[in-house]
Amino acid sequence: MSAAEIGLIGLGTMGAMLALNIADNGFTVAVHNRTAARIPEFLDKAGDLADRITGHADIQDFVQGLATPRNIILMVPAGDAVDAQIDMLRPLLDADDMIIDAGNANFHDSQRRAQAAEDAGVPFLGIGVSGGAEGARFGPSIMGGGTPAAWDRVAHILKAISAKYEDQPCATYMGAGGAGHFVKTVHNGIEYADMQLIAEAYGVMRDGMGMDAAACGAVFDRWNDGPLQSYLIEISGKVSAATDPETGQPVLDVILDRAGQKGTGRWTAIEAQMLGAPVPTIEAAVMARNMSAARDLRLSGSDILGETGRTLDDGALSLEDLEQALIAGKVLCYAQGFDLLSKASADYGWDLPMAEIAEVWREGCIIRSAMLNDMASALTDAPTRNLALAPFFAGILRDNLAGLRKVAVVAMGAGHPVPALAAALNYFDTLTSARTTANMLQAQRDYFGAHSFERIDRDGAHHGPWLNQHLNG
Ligand code: 6PG
Repeated sequence: MSAAEIGLIGLGTMGAMLALNIADNGFTVAVHNRTAARIPEFLDKAGDLADRITGHADIQDFVQGLATPRNIILMVPAGDAVDAQIDMLRPLLDADDMIIDAGNANFHDSQRRAQAAEDAGVPFLGIGVSGGAEGARFGPSIMGGGTPAAWDRVAHILKAISAKYEDQPCATYMGAGGAGHFVKTVHNGIEYADMQLIAEAYGVMRDGMGMDAAACGAVFDRWNDGPLQSYLIEISGKVSAATDPETGQPVLDVILDRAGQKGTGRWTAIEAQMLGAPVPTIEAAVMARNMSAARDLRLSGSDILGETGRTLDDGALSLEDLEQALIAGKVLCYAQGFDLLSKASADYGWDLPMAEIAEVWREGCIIRSAMLNDMASALTDAPTRNLALAPFFAGILRDNLAGLRKVAVVAMGAGHPVPALAAALNYFDTLTSARTTANMLQAQRDYFGAHSFERIDRDGAHHGPWLNQHLNG
């Protein structure tokens, strides 16, 4: 085979699937893996696609097997491993050869790597890739960050391998430096929130309404035919219906209630705090994962303080209430995510293509859902307007808010934790407060720190009458 059109390093699940996808789309691809034994195993399983793939145990051979200027995708674990790989690879490359980091990088790392590449006069691209293993194999959603020239160089390959929404590729250039990985991070923050909202609805059905896993699954299946239609609702139906082959019980019932996380949801919450962007539903989802992980504490809590979460009275909540709660919660958590993107875009000078972000998430990624097409339209009309205020979504919120309020109030009244639903409701109630209680905060700040406050009746910075009194004794 002549020199390969693109290279890929890292044959873990995601890397292997991406390499197969690239070959499947007619491109020739050279692959390398640190543990060389993985390479022949991978080629064996590649079937006919192996005709378009070359495996190289030796990194120099790998580099020599690539057409110039070279384009090399890294699919290695995010963090130090990426830096180590770049440090090892770069000296073997020519100045116009490009490294493409396709892992779940922290965008600060991508900013730093992009800057280092620019200083060294070499191209670099950071791409967020969403869709899990299946997406990587058959069409992920791809969010690119770097120089436009770096993106243009490989855009034809990335668009070809990406998911398609009505023939439109879900692969888009987002902006300079770490913009692609930032957008991917916020995608994951929304993913955490959407998953947690669904888990809370499941909890109300299971613990409040006494429904078994199969019954919950049937509800998710039904919801998937309505406004909630989405990949996450679809898989919630599937996992609820599955049976554990060992015990014959529903799989859900044998899974320990301790959630893992690799950190992207947490990064979203951290970055939102740094930018002063309110994302309470995402933060609640991260908190809920952290508390799920503190299982020993929860066991002691239920032991010492008594378990809460009693069965709801018949008719206290309906499945329609729950569906409404999820619809409103979902709109509000996406609104928070897009608001964060908009603030980051201004702060980092990225000029993020807001409507195209919604478009690129319509297929391939984990948060793909029917609502994203309408979000793309709303963001086309007004890219920086909070989605909750767009006429279409304001209408959805008006129609479904009663359900969210009822579910949050009834569930909390019976002692069921619904942190993400409650956070969504509080976000809505704050968003619609023409007058908050921050006048009290301002008075307190001025009292103890002479921080001053604005007045409602005239401009300027003012102090309260307390200042001289309490400082002068
Ligand atoms: C995706 C997923 C993917 C992955 C993350 C989140 O878009 O394909 O977000 O990136 O599932 O690693 O996983 P955690 O839940 O472990 O943080």
